Amino acid sequence: MTAQIIDGKQISADIRAEVALDVQKMQEEHGLTPGLAVVLVGEDPASQVYVNNKEKACNEVGFNSIKYELPANTSEDDLIKLVEELNGRADIHGILVQLPLPDQIDEERVLLNIDPDKDVDGFHPMNVGRLVVGAPVFVSCTPAGVIELLKRSGAELEGANAVVVGRSNIVGKPVALLLLGENCTVTICHSRTRDLAAVCRQADVLVAAVGVPEMVKGDWVKEGATIIDVGINRTEDGLVGDVEFEAAAERARAITPVPGGVGPMTIAMLMRNTLKAADLAL
Ligand code: GUN
Repeated sequence: MTAQIIDGKQISADIRAEVALDVQKMQEEHGLTPGLAVVLVGEDPASQVYVNNKEKACNEVGFNSIKYELPANTSEDDLIKLVEELNGRADIHGILVQLPLPDQIDEERVLLNIDPDKDVDGFHPMNVGRLVVGAPVFVSCTPAGVIELLKRSGAELEGANAVVVGRSNIVGKPVALLLLGENCTVTICHSRTRDLAAVCRQADVLVAAVGVPEMVKGDWVKEGATIIDVGINRTEDGLVGDVEFEAAAERARAITPVPGGVGPMTIAMLMRNTLKAADLAL
């Protein structure tokens, strides 16, 4: 069996095109243009690239975007003051504070101050709680992208055995909760899991999010499984995922490449969350 390669770039472009159409409709019917504020503190080069990509995507779908670039020595209080100001603005529907923040700033305190109804990153404990009780509003973008790739690649989720390798707060745990919401039987694996290979071999849906290059071996893959590889690891051989791609692709029904799988989905889901935030404000 040779797997379908799940094209995250194409699916991301499709979703952004869908969002652009909905933005047009919102403008025509309600005279409202979604607005996203992106806040960057300091000069981390990777963060600068992410923020610029987010701004570009906003412009392409027809959002208003405002970028705030604050100096690295910004105080926690000043950042929170800006967040509060943005919470109060009717033309801003989504607020994203790019992480990581400089050491003098307590990330948790900043995130707690974002209005949960503008929390398009889905990082506020209120939105995490909504996900836990099965009533998600804003789901963080990478986990939401994982589910979207599964659905759009034709994976059967109802009653499927889903195995999530990795238990981080930003990917593993929320992905597991979303899969549960899709009526999968979910197993979360981590560094202490006994016989990880045997658990993975039961998976109809396998999500790898550990950050260890090619840790999930090809012969751990069940015939016909759908594999979503969230890992992006820089090695001597270039970028590789958490899954042994070539060997896994021989057994899987469908698999995401690295790069070009989950990566491009994050921005698409941010666009969708921002549209939803504007819709909530109607
Ligand atoms: N830094 C890296 N990824 C993200 C993200 O998705 N959201 C925010 N706010 N910061 C990030």
